[in-house]
Amino acid sequence: MTDAASPARIGIVTVSDRASRGEYEDRGGPAIREYLAAVLTSPFEAVARVIADEQSLIEETLRELCHDEQCCLVITTGGTGPALRDVTPEATEAVCQKMMPGFGELMRKVSLEKVPTAILSRQTAGICGRALIVNLPGQPRAIKECLDAVFPAIPYCIDLLEGPYLVTDESKVKAFRPKK
Ligand code: MTE
Repeated sequence: MTDAASPARIGIVTVSDRASRGEYEDRGGPAIREYLAAVLTSPFEAVARVIADEQSLIEETLRELCHDEQCCLVITTGGTGPALRDVTPEATEAVCQKMMPGFGELMRKVSLEKVPTAILSRQTAGICGRALIVNLPGQPRAIKECLDAVFPAIPYCIDLLEGPYLVTDESKVKAFRPKK
């Protein structure tokens, strides 16, 4: 278990055939890292990966980040749509013991206010060991739109998993913790 003084480890997984082959620059992973740096005031360490849309590889990467790298939170971007190669939600379900369907429902709801194709994302979330995994679509602009909606609930979710105490800049994201 991470002690209170050590930085929270947060996994960032870009799932994209083309970014993993270096055919284009990964913009999603850095956008997630920037979002976390802007919103979190407690220390964190990002553990980033860029991988192809291969279900077994995604599962292996998620397990590695949740178990070996001891991440309390893993955020993926890409591979949530209907295309034949899109399998990030399947890989997420395969490694999770519990699904957290509210995350996907809320992210699709807020995304629909921006773009009608938001319904094409099958993004979900779940618990793998002691970590929360959250899927985001591959569009870099979707990252802030989606994380702004669900981030208020993430620190308390990590508390319930006995992970590190995440603190946010309240002017950007107001974390909600029900009073004990
Ligand atoms: N959600 C937000 N907030 N913004 C977007 O631009 N793009 C949609 C959808 N969700 C989008 C979004 C589109 S066009 C697709 S195909 C799906 O996410 C799946 O994207 P992915 O396969 O890159 O994960």
